[in-house]
Amino acid sequence: MSALPMTVRADGLPERVTIYEVGPRDGLQNEQAIVPVAVKAEFVRRLVAAGLPIVEATSFVHPRWVPQLADAAELMTELGDEGRDLPVLVPNERGLDRALELGLRHVAIFGSATETFASKNLNRTFGEQFAMFEPTVTRAREAGLDVRAYVSMCFGDPWEGAVPIEQVVAAGTRLLDLGASQLSIGDTIGVATAGHVTALVAAFAEAGVGTDRLAMHFHDTYGQALANTYSALQSGITTFDASAGGLGGCPYAKSATGNLATEDLVWMLTGLGIEHGVDLDAVVTTSTWMAAQLGRPSPSAVVRALGTPG
Ligand code: HMG
Ligand code: MG
Repeated sequence: MSALPMTVRADGLPERVTIYEVGPRDGLQNEQAIVPVAVKAEFVRRLVAAGLPIVEATSFVHPRWVPQLADAAELMTELGDEGRDLPVLVPNERGLDRALELGLRHVAIFGSATETFASKNLNRTFGEQFAMFEPTVTRAREAGLDVRAYVSMCFGDPWEGAVPIEQVVAAGTRLLDLGASQLSIGDTIGVATAGHVTALVAAFAEAGVGTDRLAMHFHDTYGQALANTYSALQSGITTFDASAGGLGGCPYAKSATGNLATEDLVWMLTGLGIEHGVDLDAVVTTSTWMAAQLGRPSPSAVVRALGTPG
């Protein structure tokens, strides 16, 4: 370990980015095995200790829909004060109530740009999802919470195929207008390519949504996540979602595989001289440990290159 790329700045890229870690949530929601709560808590603690500024910990969704995260309350109780500022997913008022009971301060709603995925993931029509989110966000804001919004299927949908850019912008701006502070653009099934990313960010800018309110959430199904990240950096995006070890996927989207691996992102940013504040060795060690817990190797190229086997 301790290898790092040589740093060579490229023109026109941001000086600093925020990495929004989703491994404990997006990563573990898709695992076959139910990971014990003590292992989840250690995973979260190690990621925070590695310098990741934001670690999304779990989801307060229906436990029957995502049994892997049915222990959300237990995990957040176990984390106590250490977990208070970590974001959690809440799809509705019931989820919000569960987060409020535990004194959590950051929640994220998750909408869909397509009709089919709204139905599969939320049991709502495209229109009904906003009716579900509206009181959730209003009450969360009234309680002083910060609300992030995700919008999924922004580059393609496994049932509907290509998703028009204007449809994504319409869904995303509606979610922001509910009162979310940031919109994370989800490439749920990893079909984005670099030019598409540029065009989508430009379309949001035209609709009055600047890069300061956007984050990118790439899955790496087709190996395009880093190219898409570079494209987004060129467009001025400064928040990137990533998952330690490249864990991840969505149980309600066929062909959704791992997220952009945090280590792969950190390696590229380090090489570009973009500040991120994350200790690469510590994340690799954590992902290697987590891979052993899950009983299979990490799909991250950087973890494979730097991690010690076993
Ligand atoms: P529903 O069945 O329509 O729920 O599911 P309902 O509102 O009809 O309520 C039915 C029962 O569920 C009620 O109980 C509720 O209290 C209970 P009863 O009165 O029958 O006893 N209930 C709950 N219990 C606990 N926690 C809750 C909750 N809500 C209702 N929050 C629902 C609707 C939204 C709940 C369901 O569809 C659901 O949980 N979906 C979550 C799916 C999910 O988590 N998917 C993965 C995350 S999204 C993702 O990964 C994409 C992302 O990474 C970005 C990207 O990659 O694109 C974010
Ligand atoms: Mg995701």
